[in-house]
Amino acid sequence: MTDTETDTTTGAAGELVRWGVLSSANIGVKAVIPAIQASRNGRLVAIGSRDLARAERVALRERGARAYGSYEGVLDDPEVDAVYIPLPNAQHLEWTVRALNAGKHVLCEKPLGLTADEARQMFDASEQSDKLLMEAFMYRFHPQIAWAREQVAAGRIGPVRLIRSAFVFDIRSSPDNIRLKAALGGGSLMDVGCYPLSLCRIFFEGAPVQAVALMTEPAGAEVEMGVSAALDFGEGRRALLDSSFELPWRQFAEIIGEQGRISIPLPFTPGRIEAVARVDVGDDAWEHRFPAVDQYQLQVEHFAERIQRGETPAITRADSLAQAEAIELIYAAAGYRWPR
Ligand SMILES: NC(=O)c1ccc[n+]([C@@H]2O[C@H](COP(=O)([O-])OP(=O)(O)OC[C@H]3O[C@@H](n4cnc5c(N)ncnc54)[C@H](OP(=O)(O)O)[C@@H]3O)[C@@H](O)[C@H]2O)c1
Repeated sequence: MTDTETDTTTGAAGELVRWGVLSSANIGVKAVIPAIQASRNGRLVAIGSRDLARAERVALRERGARAYGSYEGVLDDPEVDAVYIPLPNAQHLEWTVRALNAGKHVLCEKPLGLTADEARQMFDASEQSDKLLMEAFMYRFHPQIAWAREQVAAGRIGPVRLIRSAFVFDIRSSPDNIRLKAALGGGSLMDVGCYPLSLCRIFFEGAPVQAVALMTEPAGAEVEMGVSAALDFGEGRRALLDSSFELPWRQFAEIIGEQGRISIPLPFTPGRIEAVARVDVGDDAWEHRFPAVDQYQLQVEHFAERIQRGETPAITRADSLAQAEAIELIYAAAGYRWPR
């Protein structure tokens, strides 16, 4: 972070974290690169793609960014402080470790690794290189999640006993989608079911001790296309989750306590519009409204701030390892061979 520029949001002089991005992935181009560019403490300086022309197109749009025809180009660029990795899941381990070893901080897309062992290797590389690593669970940075956690901590709904949550969409008409490819680490739990799972773990502040699960693997499919799971978090606390690539778009979270419940209609991708959550306690019900925010921007600002301060990011090693272990637990319960 040698670059000193004027922070246009605050007007204060500050060092900006200089970001590089590996690939022209949809989520990078549509959400995370715009978030980096809008952030108060970072800017894009490099993008690498397997295809130089694709990198150049992104660089042209984001004036001032350098384009590379390889991911190595970004890692070799001495002016890159942090790398965002939105590659197919099966490539997260390799490129995260390479980036950390090249001296870059890494924000890697969810799920961090295919297995807990991969996630462990990634965090070991982070510790050895003394560079930060965070799993990019952007929904965690939306104020509605912090608010719901505060409601639970304040005892508004009593001890939480049941969480129901889902994230589902239909991608059967896109057979080339990376999510449907075994070699790229596809699967509905890996791609979307990981969100409800992450949500349950943070609200129960622990890991599931047991799982019962069913999965759908139609003939000809390379990966599971749907998972329904019941998780036991101990002490009578349970979660019911589902994910699918075959049903119409749907997401929700319901956190049910002994005295009431919190409903979050759009817990994972609320969009940049006002979000609404609701609390029901007995005959009382009230809504809480959250002004529009960009949760991707909040995520990259958080990570850049932790780099600047040299502090551990909000989504920690323990958190990501527990997440990866829970994915393995669910797949094992469903009798699904994993990794493929
Ligand atoms: N947090 C979120 O909101 C969110 C949303 C969507 C996805 N994700 C995560 O982000 C990652 C990327 O998802 P996406 O939907 O953005 O993917 P995508 O549009 O398919 O992009 C993946 C990119 O990876 C590169 N790539 C390298 N090897 C590849 C291969 N063998 N086949 C296909 N692409 C390959 C390609 O970039 P080049 O050709 O430019 O090298 C491609 O553009 C996944 O880990 C996913 O779980 C997160």
